[in-house]
Amino acid sequence: MSNRYAVILAAGQGTRMKSKLYKVLHPVCGKPMVQHVVDQINRLNIDEIVTIIGHGAEKVKSQLGEISQYALQEVQLGTAHAVMQAESILAGKTGVTIVVCGDTPLIKAETMEALFRHHEEKKAKATILTARIADPTGYGRIVRNDEGFVEKIVEHKDASEAEREIKEINTGTYCFDNQALFAALTKVSNDNVQGEYYLPDVIEILKKQGAVVSAYQTEDLDETLGVNDRVALAEAERLMRSRINERHMRNGVTIVDPATTYIETDVEIGQDTVIFPGSIIRGKTKIGMDCQIGPHSEIESCEISDGTVIRQSAAFHSSIGSGVNIGPFAHIRPQSSISDDVKIGNFVEIKKAVFGKGSKASHLSYIGDAEVGSGVNIGCGSITVNYDGKNKYLTKIEDDVFIGCNSNLVAPVTIGKGAYVAAGSTITKDVPGKALSIARAHQVNKENYVDKLNFKK
Ligand code: UD1
Ligand code: CA
Repeated sequence: MSNRYAVILAAGQGTRMKSKLYKVLHPVCGKPMVQHVVDQINRLNIDEIVTIIGHGAEKVKSQLGEISQYALQEVQLGTAHAVMQAESILAGKTGVTIVVCGDTPLIKAETMEALFRHHEEKKAKATILTARIADPTGYGRIVRNDEGFVEKIVEHKDASEAEREIKEINTGTYCFDNQALFAALTKVSNDNVQGEYYLPDVIEILKKQGAVVSAYQTEDLDETLGVNDRVALAEAERLMRSRINERHMRNGVTIVDPATTYIETDVEIGQDTVIFPGSIIRGKTKIGMDCQIGPHSEIESCEISDGTVIRQSAAFHSSIGSGVNIGPFAHIRPQSSISDDVKIGNFVEIKKAVFGKGSKASHLSYIGDAEVGSGVNIGCGSITVNYDGKNKYLTKIEDDVFIGCNSNLVAPVTIGKGAYVAAGSTITKDVPGKALSIARAHQVNKENYVDKLNFKK
């Protein structure tokens, strides 16, 4: 196998997106388009990756990091001009170079590998990844001669009526003999409707030199989608979503209604977990086996162990143990750490709180900036009073504590191991272990008080 190089085109502004965000950074299922492309390329055996950056150069660079080298295209004069910027890094090297657009997020490593193989088998100087699609509007068309050999690529805007009828399109991915590519690039002109230096023109140039030019047609049409506007972005999102859902289902996850289940690219889910409709699972979330998520749960970057249930709830950047029961209608805010067998019931909000094994907050509570031990029962309507308008303070609730309903724990405060707090208490001082603390007004009953009032009946 010869050396392999990759050039990723990511310098364009993406005018048709009408966006402040540079096109290739628009996310598809939570990951920027160009990152999808690089991740797939990274699954291949590639010696050097060069990304062409221009608009949003620093942002693209910090997104992709050190996996790629970078070449700056200061003005965007077209895709051929873009590849030319990699000259100082790649020209002169022997091997095969794959060129991929940063706006084709659905391209798969397997297809690129097949393209490389086809290119090598045919001993071609250039091989285009093509597809036959029903509506080729906007794409470059593959023009073949009478014997069926590729002659050239014509851009939609430059195409004649007859050429526009061609359904076989240029997906924007190609393999080239590296040296032949850079030699041909010097011959590309910008004599066309858009006044740009087109990379596809390299095909005709090589062909005229008598070089072998080949095409490899993919059957997976999804992969060919080039995202130029928000309509195509939504289409890419839909296709990527069903690809992700299908992968989980094949791995043994039940997704009750894939059409209403939104799982981002890097999420991991264990076997026999069931995802109910309307669930959105994002970021670096890892879910164990035998869990039940949803209906209508939103989870972002959480680690969730086996056998946990999260119904109609939201959880962000937290760790959640096994056998935990959350919801319906609970809110787990960032930096919470919930141990095994905990119950967080309806209308409970947790923020930056640790919950020990088997503890419960079953109804209507706010527990923020708190360390809750194991075996604790937090009664309905209890809250940690963690904020004085300026600073946040910690509440410590040690193991086996019982907090009666509707208690206020004014932080900083510690409730010692095994203590009881009577319902309706406002606790402002530490409670020693095993103590009963009652902090509420005494009840006064005034006998026959109502009769003494002169209310007219
Ligand atoms: C391109 C192809 C077209 C193909 C289609 C597939 C050309 C001239 N046309 O058209 O044949 O069917 O992709 O999706 O190549 N870019 C730069 N620098 C530039 C111009 C573009 O880096 O000067 C980058 C863009 O950021 C983008 C990619 O190249 O990621 C493709 O550019 P775009 O303008 O989207 O090309 P299309 O019109 O879609
Ligand atoms: Ca495009």
